[in-house]
Amino acid sequence: MQHLLTIEELTQQDLKAILSNAQKIVDNKQHYSNQLNTLKDKTVANLFFENSTRTRCSFELAAKRLGAEVLNLDLKTSATAKGETVLDTIHTLEAMHVNAFIIRHGENDLQKFVAENLKTNASVLNAGDGTHAHPTQALLDMLTIAQYKNFSDLSIAIVGDIAHSRVAKSNLVALEKLGVKDIRLIGPEAFLPKDTPCQTYHDFDIGIKEVDVVMMLRIQKERMDEAAIPDTKEYFQAFGLDQRRLKLAKADAIVMHPGPMNRGIEIEAAVADGEQSVILKQVENGIAARMAILKMLL
Ligand code: CP
Repeated sequence: MQHLLTIEELTQQDLKAILSNAQKIVDNKQHYSNQLNTLKDKTVANLFFENSTRTRCSFELAAKRLGAEVLNLDLKTSATAKGETVLDTIHTLEAMHVNAFIIRHGENDLQKFVAENLKTNASVLNAGDGTHAHPTQALLDMLTIAQYKNFSDLSIAIVGDIAHSRVAKSNLVALEKLGVKDIRLIGPEAFLPKDTPCQTYHDFDIGIKEVDVVMMLRIQKERMDEAAIPDTKEYFQAFGLDQRRLKLAKADAIVMHPGPMNRGIEIEAAVADGEQSVILKQVENGIAARMAILKMLL
C-alpha cells in the first residue's frame, strides 16, 4: 500500500493490522517520546490548507517519534499564496526528496488527484478532504473504542451534523468493516444522510437508549449556508449531550468527540470533562494510530 486516501480502500485485515500495531505502540509507550529511528531517512511534509490542531500536531509528533524529518509548510507564506497550484507545490517538494505528503484540503478528493499525479513514489495521506473522508480520525477512533469495548456486540450513537462530517463518513465505513451492527444516527433531518442503512433518529432521548458509545459531532458551520445554521440554544436542547441524557445510555458508556468541541452547543462541559469522556484519550491515540500508518506506508 502506498497511500491512505480513504478507509474504504483498506481491507478488514489491513484495518485490524493497523489497529493492532497502534495498540502495540501504546503498550510500549512509543508514542510518548522520540525513541525510534524507523523512519530516520524519511522526510514527511504537512500541507494543511484548512485549519487543524489535533491532526497536524499529531502527524508531526508521530513522524518525529519514528525518527523522520518533518516539514510544516506555512501555506500563508508559501508560494501557493502567489498562485502556485497544489500540484506544482507537491512536485517542488518531490524534487527535494519528500517521501510523504500529509494533506488537508477543503476540496473532496484533492488528495486522490495528487496521488494520481505524483512524479515519485511518495505517499499521500489524507488528513481530511472536504465533507468526504478523514481516515486517520477513524483509525484513532476505532483504536479508542477497542480499548474500552468489543466491536462484536457494540451499540453506537453518532450524533449531530453527520451529513457534512468527513469524520462520521470514515467512521461509518470503519465500524461496518469491524462488524458493528447497531449504528444509530441521531440529528435533525437536515444533518442526517439521505441514504443510509443505519437506524436514524430525530429524538436523541430515544436514540441514545442503552448504547455503549456516544460520538458527538460539531456543527460544520463552514460547510453550510448561514440560513441552515440552527439556533444554538434550541440545538443544544434537542441534540446536546448533557448529564441527564447520558444517563439514558449504558452506565459504562463512553463519550467521544473528534474535536474541536463547541461546549454548550453539542456537548455540556460537565460531560466533556466527565468520567465517561474519552475525548483526550482519542487525542493521545491519534499519535499512535498515525505512527502505525506511517510505519506501514513508508
Ligand atoms: N479531529 C480533527 O480533525 O481535529 P483538527 O481539526 O484539530 O485536526
